[in-house]
Amino acid sequence: MNPLISDFTPPPARLPVIVALDFANSQDTLSFVRRLDPTLCQLKIGKELFTATGRRLAEDLINQGFKLFLDLKYHDIPHTVAQACKVAAEMGVWMVDMHASGGRRMMEAAAEAVAGYAQKPLLIGVTVLTSMEEADLAEIGWQVPVEELVLRWAKLAQDSGLDGVVCSAHEAAPLRAALGEEFVLVTPGIRLDVAGNQDDQRRIMTPAQALAAGSSYLVMGRPVTQADDPVAVLRAVNQLVA
Ligand code: C5P
Repeated sequence: MNPLISDFTPPPARLPVIVALDFANSQDTLSFVRRLDPTLCQLKIGKELFTATGRRLAEDLINQGFKLFLDLKYHDIPHTVAQACKVAAEMGVWMVDMHASGGRRMMEAAAEAVAGYAQKPLLIGVTVLTSMEEADLAEIGWQVPVEELVLRWAKLAQDSGLDGVVCSAHEAAPLRAALGEEFVLVTPGIRLDVAGNQDDQRRIMTPAQALAAGSSYLVMGRPVTQADDPVAVLRAVNQLVA
């Protein structure tokens, strides 16, 4: 057999993992990312890293060929969010998110703003933050059971032209049933071993459980960034969808 092709394993059709780059600066981020490549995973930049590094790091990662989730959870008047989504589209961002509680007009404006781009970013709604409990919701005037609010906002996001939502893997099965096969479900709170270290996450699932529940993409931070062998972790998860 040709030795050049015998080692070649084609990447899975859909890479399930989005690695959360929860680092404080570019240097630490880039030294970690050097161990990865775009055939293994997507990457996510959140508020801390983006505030520290601006668009330069984001563009650097995109130029390296990585699909980038800009997790800035926009929430503002429709025009402002639409313009921010346009900038993200022009940067070549793959996925960007906004709070579904910003309402229909905000989400529709965002969807309309990116519709004309050849490489349109996936627009993802954030439903109820997993840090919010029923008492927190009641205090800000929402006397609704969490699951009901999550489903209601996810349906509104879909109806307003968004591509998917961020949700707990524990909410994935009912959302998948209600919203269909195409709707993108992005789930954090993933741990390789449910009996092991949960860090500060409360309701966790393993990658296999979350994918079986209907997750499209798994957001994984510390289980990858603090692993002795991050590539081995990513390969093991990729095997689940191969
Ligand atoms: O290290 P860990 O896997 O817990 O990181 C999870 C990532 O997903 C972090 O970037 C965190 O901010 C994000 N996230 C989350 N829960 C949510 C929304 C986002 O853990 N509900």
